[in-house]
Amino acid sequence: MSNEDLKYEVINDSKQHDLFFKLIIIGNSGVGKSYLTLKAIKNQFDKSSISTFGITNENFFVKINGDIIRLQIWDTCGQEKFRSLLRSFYRNSSLAIIVYAIDNQESFNDVQIWLNEIKTESNPDIDIILVGNKVDLADQRKVDKEKAEKFFGDNNLSLFMETSAKTGFNAENLFIKAAEILYKKDRKLKLDNSAVFSKEPYIHEGIKIQGNDDIDNDNENKRKKKCDC
Ligand code: GTP
Ligand code: MG
Repeated sequence: MSNEDLKYEVINDSKQHDLFFKLIIIGNSGVGKSYLTLKAIKNQFDKSSISTFGITNENFFVKINGDIIRLQIWDTCGQEKFRSLLRSFYRNSSLAIIVYAIDNQESFNDVQIWLNEIKTESNPDIDIILVGNKVDLADQRKVDKEKAEKFFGDNNLSLFMETSAKTGFNAENLFIKAAEILYKKDRKLKLDNSAVFSKEPYIHEGIKIQGNDDIDNDNENKRKKKCDC
């Protein structure tokens, strides 16, 4: 199925969904993970916001070819001392977004560390998107787009994108693309082999039908674990 065949419609909220996926957003503190999420979901860029306290989640809904996809976005704190807290969230995620800031070389250098963490701790089938945020700060750019594209290619990641939470550039598009990747993978696995599909843990996360919120209960206690970053 080509991209042109898919029809998208972002939905503000929905009590029901046809497909449900968990997505984790990681990267160094201050790269803009929370702002990007807020911009995409609520179209907000509030300068008074503060560093994420532990782990929070937001929902993003998009209808693709008539199916309502619910992405549950786990927004994490980037500080190193809390990384062990994130490990159980990696395992439950179908897709990870690693964010760096284009004006911060260290945040890009550390992408390798985040990638190693995911590869060690997550489901091997996890999709990984690399995001260079803060492109509105082009005059302070430290990370060449070409270098990031090379990293993306060398590591077989699913997508690379530059974004700006401030201007909104690619903010909503990032989560639409994430939903598209998961939607297509789900479709392909269903078509390929229904027997394999039913045994595959990734898919157990992938297919949750008609707004069953019980799926979140097992994570509620984990969500309450806080860190003071
Ligand atoms: P932690 O929660 O500590 O891990 O950080 P974070 O990655 O969630 O960063 P956050 O979203 O809180 O953003 C940090 C700072 O960067 C804020 O002061 C934002 O104003 C700023 N910021 C975020 N995104 C952008 C962007 O696209 N452009 C610019 N210019 N500033 C941004
Ligand atoms: Mg944050």
